[in-house]
Amino acid sequence: MLLLPLSGAPQSLVNSLKNHCRMSLVEKLYKRFPDGEQYIRINSDVKNDGVVVVQSLYPEQDSKLVELYLALEALEGLGLTNAELIVPYMAYSRQDKRFLVGEPISAKAVYLPLRLFNIKRVLTLDIHSPKIPEIIGLAIKNILPHSYMVEKAGIEVDFVLAPDKGALHRAQALAESLRKPFDYLEKYRDRVTGEIRVSTRELGVKNMRVAIVDDIVSTGGTLAKATQTLYSLEANKVYAIITHALISEKTLQTLSTSGLDVLITTNSITQPSALPTWIRVVDVGELLCHELKSATK
Ligand code: R5P
Repeated sequence: MLLLPLSGAPQSLVNSLKNHCRMSLVEKLYKRFPDGEQYIRINSDVKNDGVVVVQSLYPEQDSKLVELYLALEALEGLGLTNAELIVPYMAYSRQDKRFLVGEPISAKAVYLPLRLFNIKRVLTLDIHSPKIPEIIGLAIKNILPHSYMVEKAGIEVDFVLAPDKGALHRAQALAESLRKPFDYLEKYRDRVTGEIRVSTRELGVKNMRVAIVDDIVSTGGTLAKATQTLYSLEANKVYAIITHALISEKTLQTLSTSGLDVLITTNSITQPSALPTWIRVVDVGELLCHELKSATK
């Protein structure tokens, strides 16, 4: 089995997949033309080996998607008809419906071309909505990593909270694996201004160590509101277990003033080398490799 990491694949994840799955790398040439267009050439003989393509779609979501499609077409041109694909972070997944009239279903628009390729399997981590595979019309194996993240981070959790109803399936899965109670908050996001409101109710979290579970932190607004709500209900500690941390300087500011104790995330995307000590990144290479191996048995 060969590994073809594209430019969005975090180096730490590539190293980990290579080690855990004992794969060697496909040789390739990648460049940009002076006008900005991307070029890729596969230089390995891939026809008789399985190839696992890894591409994460952040940052520069659009160019990472184009690079992925170029690589898949190049592999088909070499006669490979059973590439496996790992897309740890699937961008554009949050727009999985027309929230406002006139909007596109972005998840459908950007992933439809995947159906044109002979892909044996697509693996992803914590896709925003479990409905997306059906929207795209493609079988996608979605791995929820939160219990693995909690185990690797070595934290003790008494209560699990989804910051909105859409994250309830994540909170339920983690709570069941930890055998702890769970609940969710009612979140309202103004689709025009982006402003977030959370309705507060009694959650029974007094003196508890609470894990907020979600797929994405982006502006940090959702997480900050949930953290403040938990402290207003006298939680003892608040941890965030968030698969994909798309964080900017502004996000860091929002989160550091919210009182959040620890943010645990993964190497689903490339993280900055210098992160504050309250952010921990869990390597998910072993988890993905386990899934790859178990499906090929
Ligand atoms: C929304 O439904 C998602 O699951 C996340 O809660 C959201 O994307 C987080 O975004 P932000 O950090 O900008 O509030």
